[in-house]
Amino acid sequence: MTATNSTIEKMVSTPALEMRSIYKQYPGVRALDDVSLSVGASEVHALLGENGAGKSTLMKILAGAQNKDSGTILMDGATVNVDSPQKAMDLGISIIYQEFNLVPYLTAGENIFLGREPRAAIPGFVDFKKLYSESQTVLNKLGVKIDARTAVHHLSIAQQQMVEIAKATSKKAKVIIMDEPSATLTDHELVALFNLIRQLKSEGVSIVYISHRLEEVFEVCDRATVMRDGKWITTRDVGDLTREEIIKLMVGRELKDAIPKVAAQQGVPALKVSHLSRAGVLHDISFEVKQGEVLGIAGLVGAGRTETVRAIFGADPLDSGTVEVMGKIVHIRSPQDAIKCGIGLVTEDRKQQGLVLGMTVRENTTLSNLDALTSFGFIRRKEEREIAEKYKTDLAIKTPTIEQTTQNLSGGNQQKVVLAKWLYTGSKVLIFDEPTRGIDVGAKSEIYKLMNELAAKGDAIIMISSELPEILGMSDRILVMHEGAIAGELSRAEATQEKIMHLATGGE
Ligand SMILES: Nc1ncnc2c1ncn2[C@@H]1O[C@H](COP(=O)(O)OP(=O)(O)OP(=O)(O)O)[C@@H](O)[C@H]1O
Ligand SMILES: [Mg+2]
Repeated sequence: MTATNSTIEKMVSTPALEMRSIYKQYPGVRALDDVSLSVGASEVHALLGENGAGKSTLMKILAGAQNKDSGTILMDGATVNVDSPQKAMDLGISIIYQEFNLVPYLTAGENIFLGREPRAAIPGFVDFKKLYSESQTVLNKLGVKIDARTAVHHLSIAQQQMVEIAKATSKKAKVIIMDEPSATLTDHELVALFNLIRQLKSEGVSIVYISHRLEEVFEVCDRATVMRDGKWITTRDVGDLTREEIIKLMVGRELKDAIPKVAAQQGVPALKVSHLSRAGVLHDISFEVKQGEVLGIAGLVGAGRTETVRAIFGADPLDSGTVEVMGKIVHIRSPQDAIKCGIGLVTEDRKQQGLVLGMTVRENTTLSNLDALTSFGFIRRKEEREIAEKYKTDLAIKTPTIEQTTQNLSGGNQQKVVLAKWLYTGSKVLIFDEPTRGIDVGAKSEIYKLMNELAAKGDAIIMISSELPEILGMSDRILVMHEGAIAGELSRAEATQEKIMHLATGGE
């Protein structure tokens, strides 16, 4: 009788996925220290923690992309051996990596079906017709306008993210890991993602969801596990937690996550652009930003915000238009020209444009301003180290030493190094494209404080952000873009979420 009862109980409560007492040590870093995680069928489980807490490491182990030092993984109560990505796929574990894993020169459709292409009747050939019709269906289901035949390197970051999501969710998976799937998405895509999650849930799929945006956790997650410094802290029903409690569990102390805007004295226009145009992309863009001013640029993904600042920075061509820095017309043909003119661009895409991943934290920090550290052809190493140490402290970059190569840093900490690098160039006009993407709540306020300091010393700041609270909180003035043009301008006083969304979606 007792035996039967306990058998039934076991059947009812056996989690779809369990990770027990996982350990992982990297040189100088204990990434995972006795971490356990249990996820039921049809459960969306949030995995939370500050930058460098160990979330991605735990998930890479589950996806067979990293080896654990010790610990056990079980699926439906049976121990499994996940020692390669192929093994994970065979077991029905699918992952959306924080750093994209797409092959840039293949099409969206080819990426979605990579390694499991539908076979044609003739052996050895791929049935492309089927591949494209099926991948197009998956993309359409996500509500994104992406042609499955487009090569991935032609897609924007947000579109690439949607392809990643399509790829991971089109497999018949039992467990889907989403490592910051939403970082690059705006509201429209987010709604599609949440609908997809709810559908997967109704099909019995287990989902592990990592995000630094806590609102999302409350919206789609059932339970949450919080990690801190590689350790398991707690697992709770999301319904039993408040935002403040989660933050406190994550950082281990009380923290106000307010946006500490300090308005700075404004000077003359530091950057003025007039009639910037590029066929099919940008239409007659004109605006200026003054010394000490923070100009926010809002808009939906694909509105042309990144394209605008890349054109100013000389990274993309322009058909017409002029750029003035401190009242003088400048001719910028490359990012090098832009840097010489005192313009810096902190990109949203740290992997491709922001960092040299094989170089250390120190080297990346000083890379774009080595001239300032060089005498008679020699780099003044002591000073260089002091500078790198200062940014490590100011931005709370989590790394054992400044001599760590940046590819070994967690996603959020890599983003902080990108910031450090641009802060050190001493640019007069700093453009931030999604500066806090993937940055945890505690470090976000550090970045806002730094922006205040830059504005106070007279720098002009342009900030592109898809997070409306951040745009509203930090901007002195807001431009809203829609379909490659400026749809409207709002002062800090008059701006609201509703007004921004109205302009961003093409309202008058
Ligand atoms: N290959 C590696 N070599 C050395 N250290 C590593 C490596 N990968 C990760 N780490 C370290 O392990 C720790 C945990 O990193 P992990 O990427 O799991 O953090 P995370 O919780 O995903 O953070 P984020 O929110 O920034 O993405 C960090 O201190 C990181 O620097
Ligand atoms: Mg991570």
